[in-house]
Amino acid sequence: MVWVVVVAAGRGERYGAPKQYEPIAGRRVLDWSLDAARAVAGGIVLVVAPGREHDPEPVDAVVVGGATRSASVRAGLTAVPEDADVIVVHDAARPAADGGLFAAVVRAVLDGADAAVPGVAVVDTVKRVDAGGVVVETLDRDELVAVQTPQAFRADVLRSAHAGGAEASDDAALVEAAGGRVVVVPGATTNIKLTTAADRLRLEDVLR
Ligand code: CTP
Ligand code: MG
Repeated sequence: MVWVVVVAAGRGERYGAPKQYEPIAGRRVLDWSLDAARAVAGGIVLVVAPGREHDPEPVDAVVVGGATRSASVRAGLTAVPEDADVIVVHDAARPAADGGLFAAVVRAVLDGADAAVPGVAVVDTVKRVDAGGVVVETLDRDELVAVQTPQAFRADVLRSAHAGGAEASDDAALVEAAGGRVVVVPGATTNIKLTTAADRLRLEDVLR
C-alpha cells in the first residue's frame, strides 16, 4: 500500500502568507497537490499548522506539523499505518506536480530503489562560495540536478532515516546520509514550488 504525506504546515514567510491556501487557477494550491497525490495514494496524511487541524480536508488523517519541514514530515509519519510499504512525501506548495510524476517515483521504489526523487537539469552555472562571498570553486553542471517533490521511499527506510530527529531540506538527504540508494527520475520544469509572489504568475500559466 502506498501512503502520501503532504506537508502544508509552513508559514510562507517569503511569499508573505500561508501560500498553500492561496487560490491559483480557481483552486487552492493545496487542492491541486492533494488531487495529484490521489493518482497513487491508498491513503493521504495532511500535515498542517497549529490551529488548522480542525479544518475539514478531503484526506484520511490531519496532523499538526512542527517548527521545521523535517519535523512536519516526522509528525506526518506517525499517522501513516504500519502496513504501508511505500511512503511518498510531497510539498503542498508544489501544485503543478502531476499524477504521472507521483507514479514514476513510486514505480522506481517498487523496482528496488530505497528512494526516488524527481530531478531536472541545472541551467545556471553553480559556484561554491565562502562566508565572505568569494568563489571557492565552480561545480560541474553535468553532475548536478535540481531536486523536487514528490519523493517516494521504502517505508522502513524513511522511518529509520527520520528516527534520529535530523534536519535536512528534503527527506532524500536523510536517506543518503544513512547510506541508502536514492535514484533520480525525470522531473518537470513546470513543477514549480510556490515560494515568492513571482512564482504565482508562472503557476497560473501552468495550471490553466
Ligand atoms: N512545511 C511544513 N512545515 C514546516 C515548514 C514547511 O510542513 N515547518 C512545508 C510547507 O508548507 C511547504 C513545504 O514544506 O509545503 C516546503 O516548504 P517551503 O516552500 O519552505 O514553505 P514555507 O516554509 O511555508 O515557506 P517559507 O520558507 O518562505 O516560510
Ligand atoms: Mg520554509
